[in-house]
Amino acid sequence: MECSTKVFNEGALGVKAQMAVATNCLVWAFPASCIKNTKKLSAGLSALNTATHGAVARAIEAKDLEGVAGSHVLLTATDAWGKLGLKADRLLLICSGLETKAKTASPASKWLSAALKTLVATTAKEALWVFEEFSAKDGLSQVRLLVQLAKEQVYKFGARHPQFKTKPAEKAPHLKKLVIASLAKNNRDVSLAAAEGQAIANGVELTKDLGNLPPNICNPSYLAATAKKLAKEFPLKVEVLGRKEIEALKMGAFLAVTQGATTPPQFIVIRHQGGRAGEAPVVLVGKGITFDTGGISLKPGEGMDEMKYDMCGAASVLGTMRAIAELKLKRNVIGVIPTCENMPSGNATRPGDIVTSMSGQTIEILNTDAEGRLILCDALTYVERFKPAAVIDIATLTGACVIALGAVHSGLFSDDDALAESLLSAGRTSQDTVWRMPLDSAYQEQLKSNFADMANIGGRPAGSVTAACFLARYTEKYTWAHLDIAGTAWKSGAAKGATGRPVPLLVNYLLAK
Ligand code: BES
Ligand code: MN
Ligand code: ZN
Repeated sequence: MECSTKVFNEGALGVKAQMAVATNCLVWAFPASCIKNTKKLSAGLSALNTATHGAVARAIEAKDLEGVAGSHVLLTATDAWGKLGLKADRLLLICSGLETKAKTASPASKWLSAALKTLVATTAKEALWVFEEFSAKDGLSQVRLLVQLAKEQVYKFGARHPQFKTKPAEKAPHLKKLVIASLAKNNRDVSLAAAEGQAIANGVELTKDLGNLPPNICNPSYLAATAKKLAKEFPLKVEVLGRKEIEALKMGAFLAVTQGATTPPQFIVIRHQGGRAGEAPVVLVGKGITFDTGGISLKPGEGMDEMKYDMCGAASVLGTMRAIAELKLKRNVIGVIPTCENMPSGNATRPGDIVTSMSGQTIEILNTDAEGRLILCDALTYVERFKPAAVIDIATLTGACVIALGAVHSGLFSDDDALAESLLSAGRTSQDTVWRMPLDSAYQEQLKSNFADMANIGGRPAGSVTAACFLARYTEKYTWAHLDIAGTAWKSGAAKGATGRPVPLLVNYLLAK
């Protein structure tokens, strides 16, 4: 789906011109203040009310349209509309709620989604979206969100990958184009916000596709091929290391995880050189377990299919790299992805095995299902060579994080308050939120091993914290944050599927810095 902006005049002239656009659907978004008094509607709503012979006022009187966020009505055009200057086939009125107290106002994503859902359920191929009152405070982030959510609303895996069902699967959505109205005075900002929304949405789409693909297709080589394809489409540089090179680097922890699998491991490095040559890069490290059986510490059978999503950290790195490349972001960013399968076999790592990580520290692998930290620790040592400004790793790391935070916030772990604050704030603007978790050294006690420098598990208490503490032992040379996305990267149940999180968070973080 395409998104663009269209410039209109201010005031009554602008409203007239917006109404005169021949469109499949005119979406009119307004704050509650516009309908406070039915006798004295806002300029826009009153013009629309006249053109629709009072349908707007009737909807308000019938309480179909209320001053709460997400309240909306869809009207179909009559012949009379056109004669009165309203050329749209449909009119969708949507209330954004109260403008005032940010704390009580419901997040914009809620009301934007409500309207988009109704819009997408029609056969409209294109639509013109007007914000009657463009909020100075969060108008631009609403534009970004609108574009993101519009693309999200039309995302259908079955329509994008029809090869997996013999009978025609989901139909491609009708809506192909969304035009956002803006005023001349702020058009540059609005079209930039729309472009950012579009790039984030494209990144999210790639991340969802990779997450949703079956694990027999989306294996380590597939992720490497995807990175190489991105480098053909955008000015990104990709390097892929195979088993030999991983061995040469002495990544003993990573190798221990891949050792039970027949599918070869890959180590992907993807670079966006948008900043000065010497500028220290931000490095994103993504967990790329394309299937996690647990290894010899085998997981229970029920729901094990969902462990195809164990590469969502890697997928979010690729999605973020795509988005920033599309935006030609003026910073240096490097994506690093260790990827392999975690399988049981005669060659697989045993509980009790001791391995030496690339850092030289030894690890007693007490549970082969705690594999994410093993592939990540070597990647985290590898990235020291980039002298990074900051390193953020993204991983579906622990079931404990799902228990702690559910599907609302991703877990954020960092010793660096400034980095943590930047990520918290990027989460708020993108509505792809994180919650800060502790990382005190007291938790390190749980990782003690009788036989090696550390164990790879710390027992059930504070499971997501001890996993982060394990990673902390490999990140002392730079500023680092860890995002545990086990609860946020995908949805279970009827709406099973990847969410594309935390691509919006990461892109917003990179845009803001
Ligand atoms: N990929 C899982 C984490 C996970 C579990 C993500 C459930 C989403 C839903 C990870 O590799 C894992 O198995 N972690 C173990 C660690 C434990 C053995 C210390 C877990 O969380 O149970
Ligand atoms: Mn596991
Ligand atoms: Zn895993």
